[in-house]
Amino acid sequence: MNSMLLKGKTALVTGAGRGIGKAIAIRLAEAGADVVINYNTSEDGAKETAEIVEGAGVKALVIKADVSNPEEVKEMFGRIKDEFGMVNILVNNAGILKDSLLLMMKDDMWDDVIDTNLKGPYLCMKYAVKMMMREKYGKIVNISSIIGRRGNAGQVNYAASKAGLIGMTYSAAKELGKMGIRVNAIAPGVIQTDMIAHLKDDYIEHLKEGIALGKLGTPEEVAEVVLFFASPASDYVTGQVIGVDGGQVI
Ligand SMILES: NC(=O)c1ccc[n+]([C@@H]2O[C@H](COP(=O)([O-])OP(=O)(O)OC[C@H]3O[C@@H](n4cnc5c(N)ncnc54)[C@H](O)[C@@H]3O)[C@@H](O)[C@H]2O)c1
Repeated sequence: MNSMLLKGKTALVTGAGRGIGKAIAIRLAEAGADVVINYNTSEDGAKETAEIVEGAGVKALVIKADVSNPEEVKEMFGRIKDEFGMVNILVNNAGILKDSLLLMMKDDMWDDVIDTNLKGPYLCMKYAVKMMMREKYGKIVNISSIIGRRGNAGQVNYAASKAGLIGMTYSAAKELGKMGIRVNAIAPGVIQTDMIAHLKDDYIEHLKEGIALGKLGTPEEVAEVVLFFASPASDYVTGQVIGVDGGQVI
């Protein structure tokens, strides 16, 4: 895609210190956007992402904030306002897993996953929308998961958070469309990042059998679809979920 497609836009990518978020931040920078790189614990990774973003000739701003913490999210948007005045593109990418079978799940495992994966995007959307409304234009991309569409044993908390994010995408798209704000979601399949590093090789081979393209995805392949949703190429698209899963859900 055209390298100046997002020139003059500011994008916030949450959890951009590694994995899919890092690839998204870099891809949006390559397309000309200034990028706010949010992280919670991956400080070194966030700084490395910022160097690559700046190498693309755009501005980078690194902000530490736990997306599930209302005060920290408020402060983050205050800093974005001071630095850029605006956020035009919000990518709700930060997410965690705390897997357990239902009967063994501790309440805090439920709370942590729902707080990060669902309350975090809600808080970030609220502040971003306030800024986007003024421009009557904005792009929100929520990174859900194949698990939010299909479920998975041992992941009731994660599945609930990611299905919730899809429901929130549908509702927000309906609510915000007349203000020119587009809200879409991506449901990645199995993507090669630290998040799946704990999966055993034979389980990965088993998973591949259920993937039409027969292979795992890369963070860069997810980032390309985020760029589509972030760019004017998708201006008449809202309230949609695209599976970036190699054909795992068909
Ligand atoms: N890897 C996969 O197979 C896969 C599949 C489907 C969906 N996803 C989703 O994609 C997104 C990115 O996943 P990934 O694979 O890159 O995982 P990852 O664990 O490599 O990266 C997630 C990032 O989010 C950050 N983060 C976690 N909690 C945070 C918080 N409270 N505030 C701010 N940042 C926080 C982490 O520090 C980390 O840098 C997640 O939402 C995940 O659920 C991943």
